[in-house]
Amino acid sequence: MADKKIISVIGATGAQGGGLVRAILADENGPFTVRAVTRDVKSDKARALAALGAEVVAGDIDDIESLERAFAGAHGAYCVTFFWAHFSPEKELAEARAMAQAARRARVQHVIWSTLEDTRKFVPVSDNRMPTLMGKYKVPHFDAKGEADALFTEAGAPTTFLLTSFYWENLIYFGMGPKKDANGKLAITLPIGDKKLPGMASDDIGKCAYGIFTRGGEYIGRTVGIAGEHLTGARMASALSTSLGKEISYNAVPPEVYRSFGFPGAEDLGNMFQFSRDFEQAFCGARKLDVSRALNPSLQTFDVWLSQNKDRIPLE
Ligand SMILES: NC(=O)c1ccc[n+]([C@@H]2O[C@H](COP(=O)([O-])OP(=O)(O)OC[C@H]3O[C@@H](n4cnc5c(N)ncnc54)[C@H](OP(=O)(O)O)[C@@H]3O)[C@@H](O)[C@H]2O)c1
Repeated sequence: MADKKIISVIGATGAQGGGLVRAILADENGPFTVRAVTRDVKSDKARALAALGAEVVAGDIDDIESLERAFAGAHGAYCVTFFWAHFSPEKELAEARAMAQAARRARVQHVIWSTLEDTRKFVPVSDNRMPTLMGKYKVPHFDAKGEADALFTEAGAPTTFLLTSFYWENLIYFGMGPKKDANGKLAITLPIGDKKLPGMASDDIGKCAYGIFTRGGEYIGRTVGIAGEHLTGARMASALSTSLGKEISYNAVPPEVYRSFGFPGAEDLGNMFQFSRDFEQAFCGARKLDVSRALNPSLQTFDVWLSQNKDRIPLE
């Protein structure tokens, strides 16, 4: 125990960080112990992590001093931002800068930064095929993360840039599950035409991150993309139909229709799906399934994920 190295995990009570915390704790003879960072050490989720054996410490990514304390003495740090909590790419940039600087000051030896593409490298702001949002972004919740990659490099933090994928849990929590159309028929609605979308069980992100940490310095300075499967909307619908025992079709809408749905973030997500549709090869190609499985041998396919989660998918 004494000679184990500490991994500090931001977002430890959430999806990505939680997966990493559980992966570290599950490997009892592994090289790491885990320090779970939370804004509230007394919350039920924080207490549950402590009960599992995690060190639980207070930290807030909006407070760099708290991050320095949370990273002090740690070998590794898992860094993630929470766009959907505030919808501000500028806030994500400031938070990424704070994490990068705190990691550097604490002499953390390996940072994993949970990032996504800066889609403006593919669709410049001047390109009108999708609307520019918030003045200077195409996909705000992607672009700021991609832009923030440079902040980790500039800070001198030894970093792996982890490109994550669409969580299949969005079918449960994010309002993307099957819904009844005007004729009462269940369908999932996505604006990706017949293209494939890289997706994964959110818990597998942390397991892949664990695989990266266990490989020592191999991935430092590199970008690695992960996914459980690359699936078309039609394939997702057929798998849902089989798993749930109900006919569920795929409703392919144009991105402009998706953008007009009016829920918070609809334009951002409409652009994101359009980006994944129009740059399918680059988007899927950056998230290799064999690499993901090598990092995390228990990587779930969609069918496996469905077998364990089908009862949690709301059918509206
Ligand atoms: N949904 C998707 O398909 C998808 C796919 C790829 C990437 N992403 C990205 O994933 C990111 C979110 O990660 P996640 O899904 O793991 O988040 P999550 O499950 O929503 O977890 C958020 C956790 O982070 C903590 N947190 C929130 N604000 C914090 C702050 N200011 N300082 C410290 N901790 C804070 C909270 O814990 P406490 O309350 O305990 O502090 C919370 O439990 C987003 O930026 C999103 O763009 C999402």
